Amino acid sequence: MSELFASPDSKPVSSAADPSSTPITASQLNIASGAHSSPVAAIILAAGKSTRMRSKTPKPLHPMCGLPMTSHVVRACRAAGVERVVIVIGHQAEQVRGGLTDDPEVEYVVQVEQRGTGDAVKAAQPVLGDWEGTILVLAGDVPLLSSEALRRLVSRQHETNAHAVLLTAMLDDPTGYGRVVRDANGRVARIVEQKDATSEERAIKEWNPSLYAFEAQALWSSLAKVQPLNAQGEYYLTDTIGLLTVQGATVEALAVTDAREVFGVNTRVELAAVAEILRDRIQRHLMLSGVSITDPASTFIDVDVQVGQDSVIEPSTFLYRGTVIGEDCVIGPQARIERSTLGNRVRVLASQIAESVLEDDVKVGPFANLRPGTRLGKGVKIGDFVEVKNSILAAGAQVSHLAYIGDAEVGAGTNIGAGVITCNYDGYEKHRTVIGSNAFIGSNSTLVAPLTIGDGAFIAAGSPVTEDVPTDAMAIARQRPTIKSGWAAAYHTRQRARKTERRVL
Ligand code: UD1
Ligand code: MG
Repeated sequence: MSELFASPDSKPVSSAADPSSTPITASQLNIASGAHSSPVAAIILAAGKSTRMRSKTPKPLHPMCGLPMTSHVVRACRAAGVERVVIVIGHQAEQVRGGLTDDPEVEYVVQVEQRGTGDAVKAAQPVLGDWEGTILVLAGDVPLLSSEALRRLVSRQHETNAHAVLLTAMLDDPTGYGRVVRDANGRVARIVEQKDATSEERAIKEWNPSLYAFEAQALWSSLAKVQPLNAQGEYYLTDTIGLLTVQGATVEALAVTDAREVFGVNTRVELAAVAEILRDRIQRHLMLSGVSITDPASTFIDVDVQVGQDSVIEPSTFLYRGTVIGEDCVIGPQARIERSTLGNRVRVLASQIAESVLEDDVKVGPFANLRPGTRLGKGVKIGDFVEVKNSILAAGAQVSHLAYIGDAEVGAGTNIGAGVITCNYDGYEKHRTVIGSNAFIGSNSTLVAPLTIGDGAFIAAGSPVTEDVPTDAMAIARQRPTIKSGWAAAYHTRQRARKTERRVL
């Protein structure tokens, strides 16, 4: 991965989505930077109307690789050792509060009227007004932000004792973003919004990603002076920078070299583009840890998904959050797995699996559907067009084709033939089917629950079974066929004669 910062001591970036970005404490962070101790809080802005998304869903909750967009920003804060995270909500506030449940420690404040980013930060003053230390101010729509970037932002603020440090980035065409205006000595002077900028200012390529580290009291005192005297009639957070430099306060800029990390999401086009970058990061991390991904472009893996060494993820595969896969597995093509745990050497071909546990050496598919509550013991085989729901199959059991196993327990080594159905529902309630070990359930049997079939029992093919079958017994429930010798030959002779007759007429 390309290095994020221009400074010579740069380290590779690790993402919030990257399990290697282990959380550190604020005190560790200070020791690392060699600066004086100073606790860190963060304010994440997520109260805006998100008009450009054209969505009934609030922007902070739009999903990205398994998490709501703003949760990625919260995670980056936690991984960087931020002690308090305050999210400013406003537009669709209750929905946003209820949707960002990933981190129960997060605090919320409400910005009643959306009067600009400066006004939004002010909404956090009642809870952080007395904070002594650093306050990060972050936009909730920058989900690619890494914990490493935040650590560096905080370190720079601690090392320099600056009143404010802002990240900046370069783009050939930063249309829409605020521009960083520097003075004759090359120091940051102020930020000007696109709508208020002169044509010379619009030509500036250095832009403001809206990610800042403030010394707390400098933030509150400069915010108090912000006025809505601009094209949008809003209280701009960006004005604090100019207000600070005019007073002779220290404002530092930290340039990122990879502008992609600080892309904001304002439209659904940007949402898709940013999600693609995040997916790429997640897959890179897995590949570098020893997982093969045959075609990254057609593979979709959420944050927190774990895959063991030497497993292969084949094309058109979707691994959703909460999935853990062991070593030496082959998953896909065309697998869809959510919130499930798979052991080692598991093979899943063209199947979907939800909320299930598969032990080592299980084989699934093609075209199987494992629904929630499925537990498959070591070496179980589930073949084509088999549906399993809320059932436990012990080691070595086999259901090779065309079956429905619901609310059942199947003992070790039992073979379930093609077309077997557990009739678990009587129209009112669900009932269980319990089958012992090493039993043989012949093809096309219907097992009417509640039902118990003992160890080693044998069910003859085509039998509807409505009574319990003891251990080692055989159950057969079908009519004997009636055999009429010569009947078929006579039938064909009769039919052929009729056909000839019709042709003659
Ligand atoms: C802002 C910056 C701009 C920067 C850009 C980077 C200001 C004035 N401008 O512009 O310099 O280049 O981000 O992406 O800060 N919000 C509230 N309450 C409000 C208004 C906004 O909470 O009253 C929140 C939004 O939900 C969003 C964030 O603040 O998460 C930024 O708001 P947005 O409207 O996206 O600002 P930009 O126009 O992108
Ligand atoms: Mg924005």
